[in-house]
This record gives sequence, C-alpha cells and structure tokens, in this order.
Amino acid sequence: MMTIDKTLNLIRPNIARLQPYSSARIEFTGSNTILLDANENPYSFINEEMEINRYPDPLQRFAKEKIALLKQVEPNRVFLGNGSDEAVDLIIRCFCEPAKDSIALFAPTYGMYSVCAAINNVAVRQFLLNDDFSININQFFDNLSTDTKVVFICSPNNPTGNAQPIETIEQILSQFNGIVVVDEAYIDFYSGKSTSSLLEKYPNLIVLQTFSKAWAMAGARIGIAFAHQNIIKILNKVKFPYNIGVPSLKVLERALEKTASAKMLVNQIIDEREMLKMKLQALPCVEKVYPSDTNFLLVKTNDANSIYRYLLSRMIVVRNRTNEPLCENCLRITVGKPEENQRLIAILKTYKP
Ligand SMILES: Cc1ncc(COP(=O)(O)O)c(C=O)c1O
Repeated sequence: MMTIDKTLNLIRPNIARLQPYSSARIEFTGSNTILLDANENPYSFINEEMEINRYPDPLQRFAKEKIALLKQVEPNRVFLGNGSDEAVDLIIRCFCEPAKDSIALFAPTYGMYSVCAAINNVAVRQFLLNDDFSININQFFDNLSTDTKVVFICSPNNPTGNAQPIETIEQILSQFNGIVVVDEAYIDFYSGKSTSSLLEKYPNLIVLQTFSKAWAMAGARIGIAFAHQNIIKILNKVKFPYNIGVPSLKVLERALEKTASAKMLVNQIIDEREMLKMKLQALPCVEKVYPSDTNFLLVKTNDANSIYRYLLSRMIVVRNRTNEPLCENCLRITVGKPEENQRLIAILKTYKP
C-alpha cells in the first residue's frame, strides 16, 4: 500500500523542483482593494457586473469551499481544471517522464487518456476489459509493467456505460505502487458510491469529476480532481495560473446554489434513459442495449456503420464505436430530451438494411 511519501516520490524530479509562476492575486483575499498589480484594464465596457476586466482567482477559492461542502471533502483536497481533460493532461505531465514511463488503461475507454499520453510522449499499456466490461484484475497485475506510473479507471466507463465495483478499484489502489486515477465523469447517474470516500485511506488516489454532464455545464469547461492535499499542490503548481475564466466561475457559483435543480435533471435523464432503452430494444435493427450507469446507452446493432450513416442523413448525430475493442457494431447514444429521443426512435423504425 502506498504512503503519501512514496506517492510524492513518483513526481517527475523537474516538477518537484519547479518554482511556479506566482501572481500577487494568490495572496489577495480582501475586497475594495485598489488592484494595480496585474496590468489589467481598470475599465469594463462589456460586463461591468461580472468584472470581466479582472483576472479570475487563480485558486478558485470561493467555488472550492462550496464544492468541498457539497462533496464532503476538505477544500484543500479539491483541484479545479479547464474541464477534467486538463486534469488528465496535468496528471500525466506531473508523474510520467516522456519516452520513459507509461500509463495503463482498460479498453475500451475514454479516448483522452491515450491522446494526452501521446502528446506527452508517454506510452500506453492497454488491458482489455472482460466481455461483461469488468476489469480482469489478475491479467492486470500479471502483466503490469514496471514503467507504469499511472493507471486510469473510468467508472462509470465511457463507452461501455458500466461502473466497476468499488472493491475492484480498492484492490488496485491497495496493490498498485503508482497513481490510480478514477474518472467519475458520470458518477451522478450511478446509484453506487463515489470512490472519493477512499481518499483518506489511499494517498495515491485521484478522483476526477466534472460539471459537464449531470451539471449541464459542458460549455463552461470545469472539471474537478479530488486528491491528497500535497498532490493538489503539485497540480496547482503546474496548471496555467488563470485556468478557469471569470464567466465560467460565475456560472459555477450560480449552479452550486441550485443543487436541487441539478439533481432533478439527473433523475429526469435516468427515467428517460430507461424508457429509451426499452424502445431501442424493441427495434429490429437492435441486438442488445447494455445496462447503463451513465447518461448514454451503448447499443449493439446489426450494422453500426450503415445505421450511423442513415441517422446522419436524417440529421441525427450519434457516436459510432464499432472500431473500439469489444464494441463491434455498437453505437453510443446520448439520452436527449424526450422529443429528441422520440424522433430518434421514429427514424430508426424507418431504417432498412
Ligand atoms: C469519461 C470522461 N471523462 C472526462 C470527460 C471530459 O470531461 P470534461 O468536459 O470535464 O473535460 C468525458 C467527456 O465525454 C468523459 O466521457
């Protein structure tokens, strides 16, 4: 099992030594201050109320306090990124030496882990999920490479839609001598527990969540990483100083006052998902709809390429996953509004092979 000291030893030496960019605004907490430190324009002609002429708080302190309360974690265990994609990239940059270290992932999964690794010249060790999309723990530990510093577990997983049992994740956390990232982008659509309950126990755990899905704010680009406070400090050191803009932070603060509305939307989408699943299953072109803990359905069809093109010709865009491992002839379909889902079903009824 990893201690925090062992975990911090995994940080690339140049990152551990790094003196971050420091802005006067990091020390600033008061209001009614005369701000002459950052070469901003003192005037605002676009949005006076929003103070768009000012740089945002680099540490997003106000939002983090609220998120910490909501998620029952300490505020110093919260990192905010420009989408959770930023956190994925930062984690690889902080822990993996280019051309030397690797990440591991369980395929098929979210594509950005491999893309960020490739951008950073970090190798990807890919482990295939079982046919039921569960993780093959023995295969993972038997074939684990000594150069693997970070393992990504997407739970609930994109594109398969299933969550991994928390016991499986804990087994990896307790036996893997590296960083374990659990990407919980879809956690709010899942009835099980978040891995964030394990943060105290495992200093090598980083949990990613996002405001892009359940919180309906994909356009604001705000993702969260929960981790040990010393890992959060490293991520803060490496990120661009002002990584989340003023408008996004304002929207986030408003959203955090409306948690009941977000919860209601999630329940509505879950109900709609189950209805859509039933209707899809009744279609002749559909062989199987996989169980989903997310806001999308993975649908096995009799010809994904042809159905994908047919839907496009009728102005409906879904995701063709047929070339992903274990996903032959599968389409990934996001749960839309009721009228959008009805239209999808109506069009699919007219599909002829
Ligand atoms: C599993 C998973 N993680 C992360 C993301 C990206 O999230 P964000 O919008 O916060 O960058 C996605 C987006 O589809 C996703 O499916």
